[in-house]
Amino acid sequence: MRSAMTRLALLPFAFAAGAVALAAAPATTLKDAFADHFTVGAALNTQIIVQPEHPARALVKRHFNSVTAANAMKWGPFNPEPGVHVFEHADALVAFAEANGMQVIGHTLFWHQQTPSWVFQDEAGAPISREALLKRMRERVRVVAQRYGTRVHLWDVVNEAIEDDGSPRKSNWYRVLGDDFVPEAFRIAGEELPTSVQLIYNDYSMFQPGRRAAVVKMIHDLRARGLRIDGVGLQGHWGLDFPKLEDAEASIVAFAEAGVRVHITELDVDVLPRSPDMFGADLNKRAQLSPENNPYTAGLPAEMQEKLARRYAEIFALFVKHADKIDRVTFWGVTDGDSWLNGFPVRGRTNHPLLFARANQPKPALDAVLGVAAGR
Ligand code: XIL
Repeated sequence: MRSAMTRLALLPFAFAAGAVALAAAPATTLKDAFADHFTVGAALNTQIIVQPEHPARALVKRHFNSVTAANAMKWGPFNPEPGVHVFEHADALVAFAEANGMQVIGHTLFWHQQTPSWVFQDEAGAPISREALLKRMRERVRVVAQRYGTRVHLWDVVNEAIEDDGSPRKSNWYRVLGDDFVPEAFRIAGEELPTSVQLIYNDYSMFQPGRRAAVVKMIHDLRARGLRIDGVGLQGHWGLDFPKLEDAEASIVAFAEAGVRVHITELDVDVLPRSPDMFGADLNKRAQLSPENNPYTAGLPAEMQEKLARRYAEIFALFVKHADKIDRVTFWGVTDGDSWLNGFPVRGRTNHPLLFARANQPKPALDAVLGVAAGR
């Protein structure tokens, strides 16, 4: 009895001490660790989206407060034939996000990849007119606006319209619409989507001076036409040795100074060898598989794990330094096994670019990233 009383009497102190210890304890999840800085997201492939029992889902719920469909909302998977829409996967992503208090990122309205060729053809298979293409673009935005409205927090309106040197990409969009492609895309998105849905321009290798300057010019041009652009996405398909972080920093600062929010939209760190002409994320570029360019099929050796951890730490230190400009950091995948970098730019490799290994185990890089938030 007495000892029970003693224990009871001590309880308030135990709680108080526990509370103090809890408040001081560093966060163990990504979303909590960076809660004062930016949201942390992941791209989900279709398996994770449709399988409620998928093992990576526990990690997603624990660590992330925003999600992007790796493919499900792109024109091709979403609207493969004229008038035919596959809502199932995108709907499931939105439902999963809502059930778990996460933001949904719309990726992407207009891209030169994963867009069916019928989009650019008339009924006879001839190249489509400008007016007809603009009509199709508007129909696409109308469909997503009607179905998801403000449930999709932001859209990558245009993905990858600029080359490394700052010139416009000579895509099917450009062939039909020329320099009007980007402004017309933002005009349509701004008119059809609710005003609270943010409109983003997204691209890879944003650290390239030519692309940086062209994107800054794009922001000013759009605004001069009275069009809305809220943010710019730096994809962040980076490596252990590229880019120089000063170059990425210069772009983050330049975009913020141009008056938009910065998003890191597709972060991963390639640990496999790449020839310099393969930097970037141009899906048309491919190289041949060889034992030399696929060295870690049996797992990532400890010294490489450390190298990856150090690289992630310096990357997140940069993001924290500019947290006043950055709204979100999204990883392109959850675990190494579901990363697109197992297939790009060489098919069939075993890559290790994310914070979680193939069987969902946290890697030293996770600890390093959490350490940045804790000031370690
Ligand atoms: C990738 C997906 O992850 C793959 O599953 C798909 O086969 C190709 O596209 N830049 C982008 C993303 O904007 O949409 C790409 O996603 C990766 C490069």
